[in-house]
Amino acid sequence: MIKGIIFDLDGVLVFTDEYHYLAWQKVFDKYNLFFDRNMNQKLRGVSRKESLEIVLRENKISMDETQKEKLLKEKNDIYIQFLEEKLTPEVIPQTTREVLSSLREKGFKLAIGSSSKNTPLILKRTELLPYFDAISDGNMIQNSKPDPEVFLKAASLLHLSPQECVVVEDGEAGIVAAIRGGFMPFGIGKEISPSLPYRPISSLNDLLCFNF
Ligand code: BG6
Ligand code: MG
Repeated sequence: MIKGIIFDLDGVLVFTDEYHYLAWQKVFDKYNLFFDRNMNQKLRGVSRKESLEIVLRENKISMDETQKEKLLKEKNDIYIQFLEEKLTPEVIPQTTREVLSSLREKGFKLAIGSSSKNTPLILKRTELLPYFDAISDGNMIQNSKPDPEVFLKAASLLHLSPQECVVVEDGEAGIVAAIRGGFMPFGIGKEISPSLPYRPISSLNDLLCFNF
């Protein structure tokens, strides 16, 4: 029986993906590394550090750790500037808050399972924090999605087993992480390969129609 719902954050509850893309594009342009929207899809759900490793691999370039740290800081500074300029409670659709409230009223425990180290900042700026019983984020894990660690941590914080939770994701890495962790994955958006065994939903509203 399903008792908990674990939500990815970027691309599911908040539409910060574009800010990630624009911030990466700015630093990769500066460092003369090839990067486009296609490559960006591979970064969905993947940690900041692993995202850089993917782009370096694609460019067949190596970089020393000090330079990597510098680039990562530059990217995050630009990203945070976007969050501070654009992210207010009003950018969250009212339906998102209504769905979260309804799920809580139905008795589900809700958690965040996000690779982002900026999760606390995002939840604070959007005023989404009060809807959640547990937060599992990039500050608490060693292994990025597609490793299931962030979801296993979320389930454990809810005192539930993976079989008692569903995961809601927009990224392929997150869907694979959910499957590997033993969770039932729900996929939102167009970026997930249809060959993966997940339940597609067109909006968060659809979660209210499921008889878990
Ligand atoms: C994920 C995003 O939620 O968080 C990725 O989909 C991002 O694009 C990752 O790289 C890490 O985010 P942050 O905020 O710690 O740089
Ligand atoms: Mg996501």
